[in-house]
Amino acid sequence: MAAALTLYRSTIGKKAIMAITGFIGYGFVILHMVGNLHIFEGPAEFNHYAEFLRTIGTPVLPERGLLWILRVVLLASVILHVTAAVQLTRLDWASRPQGYRQTKRKQATFASMTLRWGGIAIFFFLIYHLAHFTFGVGIPNFAGHESAYQNVVTGFSNPINVALYIVAVGALGMHLYHGVWSMFQTLGLNGARTDGFWRGLAALSGILLFLGFSTVPIAVITGVVR
Ligand code: HEM
Repeated sequence: MAAALTLYRSTIGKKAIMAITGFIGYGFVILHMVGNLHIFEGPAEFNHYAEFLRTIGTPVLPERGLLWILRVVLLASVILHVTAAVQLTRLDWASRPQGYRQTKRKQATFASMTLRWGGIAIFFFLIYHLAHFTFGVGIPNFAGHESAYQNVVTGFSNPINVALYIVAVGALGMHLYHGVWSMFQTLGLNGARTDGFWRGLAALSGILLFLGFSTVPIAVITGVVR
């Protein structure tokens, strides 16, 4: 226990927490993005997928049992991820001399700047997004969770929502690009020779997530999904 606390208090311990919780969030967004693509199969398939999420684990667990476990894990991950990020930023500021001169450090600063601002943007997006599709705030005639398809179509009939979602998933793509790359560094997988490979992989996953998420609002506003 004492060893775990010491590790938690160290910079490397906080980075490890960021890597692990970030990976959990990353796994969630990949599954969520793939799941959302069921919208192209029509209302029945999409609503069936939403129902699957509610009933997964039954009858061993009560309805929504596993869903709640996943929610708790996800929420705990977000809280730990944000807390460790704030603490690391403070440590970084406290140890910073009078500014950076070297190019290499400038690169690192750009990555951490976009990670921080992107992280803040994603946090606010998440509140906005849960208000919409989970609590039905801002969706006219919210049709309930059994009609998730209808809610998505109504939500994205508003061009302001479409624009905000596209900006948000763009920020998410950038965040994941930098985040996945720094996770490889934290895990010590990144060497001078393999840097290009990991960077490419991180960029590819960020781009795929951006494309996968943004096709849904675009498909609705262009009338492909209605
Ligand atoms: C175009 C993009 C997206 C669409 C169409 C979409 C759609 C949805 C829908 C329909 C629900 C509610 C399901 C229900 O309970 O009826 C939902 C829930 C959720 N979404 Fe998204 N989503 C998108 C992007 C994102 C992104 C980028 C994130 C994370 C960064 C995210 C995180 C969540 C979370 C945490 C929930 C709540 C799950 C729960 O506990 O019920 N979504 N999304």
